[in-house]
Amino acid sequence: MTKKAFLLAYPAGHSLSPYMHNAAFKALGIDGYYEALEIHPDDLAGVIDGFRAEDVYGSNVTIPHKLAVIPFMDELSQAAKMIGAVNTIINQNGKLLGHNTDASGYLRALREDGAFDPSGKEVLLLGAGGAARALLFSLLQVKAKVYIQNRTLSKAQELAENFKSLGNCEAIPQEAIPSLMPQLDLIVNSTSVGMIHKGQVSHESPLDLDLFKNDLKTDLMISDIVYRPAKTPLLTAAEAKSLRHQNGLAMLVYQGADSFEMWTGQIAPTQVMFEAIHLVIH
Ligand code: ATR
Repeated sequence: MTKKAFLLAYPAGHSLSPYMHNAAFKALGIDGYYEALEIHPDDLAGVIDGFRAEDVYGSNVTIPHKLAVIPFMDELSQAAKMIGAVNTIINQNGKLLGHNTDASGYLRALREDGAFDPSGKEVLLLGAGGAARALLFSLLQVKAKVYIQNRTLSKAQELAENFKSLGNCEAIPQEAIPSLMPQLDLIVNSTSVGMIHKGQVSHESPLDLDLFKNDLKTDLMISDIVYRPAKTPLLTAAEAKSLRHQNGLAMLVYQGADSFEMWTGQIAPTQVMFEAIHLVIH
């Protein structure tokens, strides 16, 4: 029996997930198949109900369904509850667990691909949207101190307020960044600034590293959740300063790896998954 995993999306056209998951099934000799489904929001309930079948591992969930699927879950993990979004549905013998592997995937990306351990470190998180929630959850889990800066300060304040029971986080205005800079170990961009938009390359950066030339720790890590382009203006600036840096591809792969492991109970072949994606985007 071929067992299937899906992606709930709308539209589904540009997803890289089928490539990496199908490569992983093949590499491990698992009779599995991953398919992206383009599902209109009105049709979610019926499709999700079908995930209870014996031959379904579960599903990934992406834009615009990450919040909409929540009412259809039998149970939510703590990560999904705190982040307020589900990116992975796991079929546990007919019961559906809503989980979020963006957070755990980000930690693995930092550690396994970036060779950076954020435990107890001082972090500047840029942005306060949905992606920021997952990153903040992951960083607080490992007891990092997180300063959140966002274009709209009130959203950063609201985010810090929501997460303060989990650890040490605070919202800061942009003007506070210069005095913080010398103590930062990690700067992570969770905004879409720098992303290719409608085929247009962006020259924007959420932070101008050139303003802080002598104030940057030499082992500062710069991390961007954007992976199109592979090198955003922020990462180009980091490279020019010989700083460690990582784009969002590793987070994409490791959130997928964590989903794969929860579905199959097997260790995901992350190298194979990286290679499968590189074949498609290069
Ligand atoms: P996602 O789910 O991908 O995080 P989102 O919830 O819409 O998307 O959040 C987008 C984030 O990028 C927000 O922090 C947003 O800032 P605001 O809260 O001020 O809107 C940030 N963002 C988007 N475009 C931006 C820009 N041009 N400059 C600065 N921040 C930007």
